Amino acid sequence: MLTNEMRETLIQKALNAREWAYAPYSDYTVGAAVLTESGKIYDGVNVENAVYPLTVCAERVAIFKAVSQGERSFQAIAVVTRNGGTPCGACRQVMAEFGMDTVVLIANLERKLLAEYTVADLLPNAFGQADLEKS
Ligand code: THU
Repeated sequence: MLTNEMRETLIQKALNAREWAYAPYSDYTVGAAVLTESGKIYDGVNVENAVYPLTVCAERVAIFKAVSQGERSFQAIAVVTRNGGTPCGACRQVMAEFGMDTVVLIANLERKLLAEYTVADLLPNAFGQADLEKS
């Protein structure tokens, strides 16, 4: 179960990570922190590039860091921005790959929890592994 204490911890970790965001083009810095089923936390930041489309969002950086360490399922992910922006479509799809029940916490720089969703809320009827099964 996701406790309020863990919500606060995740938001704080995402806020701390945001300091490392590399966003010289948009100046929109984002921090994320993902909590694995086993209780580990991986953080991430957005990493932009002079070739703009190569930018990777904070959420995907955090998830890919975790997955590359062998993690496969997540209890929650916190996302911290200056204005409480919600994850982009690409990040929602990547979240969906690892479970529709993952809780998504949206917070601002004051560590205020502005919204709480599940991945299923954010991406209903997602395309997934089951859609690739041969009929
Ligand atoms: N961005 C994220 O990192 N996560 C989001 O949820 C939304 C957008 C980044 C991508 C880009 O570096 C900047 O924010 C502006 O789009």
